[in-house]
Amino acid sequence: MLDLKSLLSNYDPKAGTLLGAVPVERTLRDLQGCFADRAAYETALAQSNPLLYTVAAVEPARGEGDLHYGIGKIMPGKIGDEYYMTKGHLHSWRPAAEFYFGLTGDGVMLLEDEASGESKIVPLQPNGVVYVPGHTAHRTMNVGATPLTYLGVYPANAGHDYSTIAKTNFRCVVIERDGKPVMMERKKL
Ligand code: PA5
Ligand code: MN
Repeated sequence: MLDLKSLLSNYDPKAGTLLGAVPVERTLRDLQGCFADRAAYETALAQSNPLLYTVAAVEPARGEGDLHYGIGKIMPGKIGDEYYMTKGHLHSWRPAAEFYFGLTGDGVMLLEDEASGESKIVPLQPNGVVYVPGHTAHRTMNVGATPLTYLGVYPANAGHDYSTIAKTNFRCVVIERDGKPVMMERKKL
């Protein structure tokens, strides 16, 4: 059925909201184990539990071939030298790819091929489109001074697998060096 409610939504790029989608909030406490600098994480958390990002998804249908989409908003900030970022995940259905469309702010996506561990950072900026291939873990960070917002579009049956990343984390970290985001191997920190 061609129901207008499922055919059309509206997003506010600045607010990072999408009509009909309820935002999920992730605070610093939700990112336990994600940041490399454990001491900086504990110190920051002892002071406050700031909102790091929100994500709101529209899931019109769940059939084969359907698509879902969501809007993300990541606040500016750092823990140690590492930027505020998302938990990161693989898709439960590994072949599922995803498009990210940059809306506002200045971001970076960290991509890691699950089989080889090959890692890459890709800018996520207004007018830019990032293609996340299947079988690729992805994490997004705000490397600017204002909120970063973006849209993500993915197969309805992709699913979010957080547990694989929670066990080993990403192989690489993205830290600020001389005012710029730089990728480094976690074990070389
Ligand atoms: O589906 C996606 O990849 C995005 O909408 C993410 O869910 C969003 O960026 C938040 O990241 P995470 O799901 O890793 O917390
Ligand atoms: Mn995804």
